[in-house]
Amino acid sequence: MIIHCYHDKEELSRELAKRVFAHLKDLSVKNLALPTGRSPLIFYQHLAQLLKASKLNLNLLQTFNLDEFIFDPGQKQDLSYKLYMEKHFFSKITIDHKQTHFPNLENNYDELIKSKGGLHLSLIGIGNNGHIAFNEPGSLPESPTRLIELKLESRRQNAKLFNTTLENIPKSAITMGLKSLLRSKKIYLMALGEEKKEILRKSFTEKIGPEVPASYLQNHPDLEIFIDQKADWR
Ligand code: GLP
Repeated sequence: MIIHCYHDKEELSRELAKRVFAHLKDLSVKNLALPTGRSPLIFYQHLAQLLKASKLNLNLLQTFNLDEFIFDPGQKQDLSYKLYMEKHFFSKITIDHKQTHFPNLENNYDELIKSKGGLHLSLIGIGNNGHIAFNEPGSLPESPTRLIELKLESRRQNAKLFNTTLENIPKSAITMGLKSLLRSKKIYLMALGEEKKEILRKSFTEKIGPEVPASYLQNHPDLEIFIDQKADWR
């Protein structure tokens, strides 16, 4: 595991975008898992700028979002991660929507990922309770992509992201399972700010187990962690 610590989120986002851009350019990454949340917002801006300026052809790229909410019937769907991705990234680059994938109740996401050759790089964030994607505490490393009930803490975190109140955040989601995620050739984890320090410490210095799903990353052969100074737990 390699840790990169930056002065602030601007510097981190810029450097991470350069790294990802280089992988897309040399085609070492064609199947890319993408996160949502507050942490990647500036990163997406920088990556979109690099892609636009270079006019890099993305025809061979397939993106796989990590998770999506499941809405109750009648619940407004304006908080979907699909809309988040459209707003912050896909609308700013040239990519066919057929190349962008989201887990849902109809598709077999793990099979889809496998059929495309597996993930080459997964960009992930971390929840304050140690979730990665939406693999909440209790998730096992072999878990498949599945419907999951969200913990209150995760719903609160997402209420902040969407600048809304808790009742507007769905109670369940569909998440890429740890099995597909941990099989990704490379994983880049990004975490920003003081609020992530304690869960990062727990995830990377304590024992591995389902109560902190991010702790399974300790076993990954090619993990790089991108943090700002405020999140540095060492
Ligand atoms: C949501 C996403 C996670 C993400 C987390 C981090 O819960 N489902 O995939 O890692 O947000 O959020 P933030 O970056 O806002 O702290």
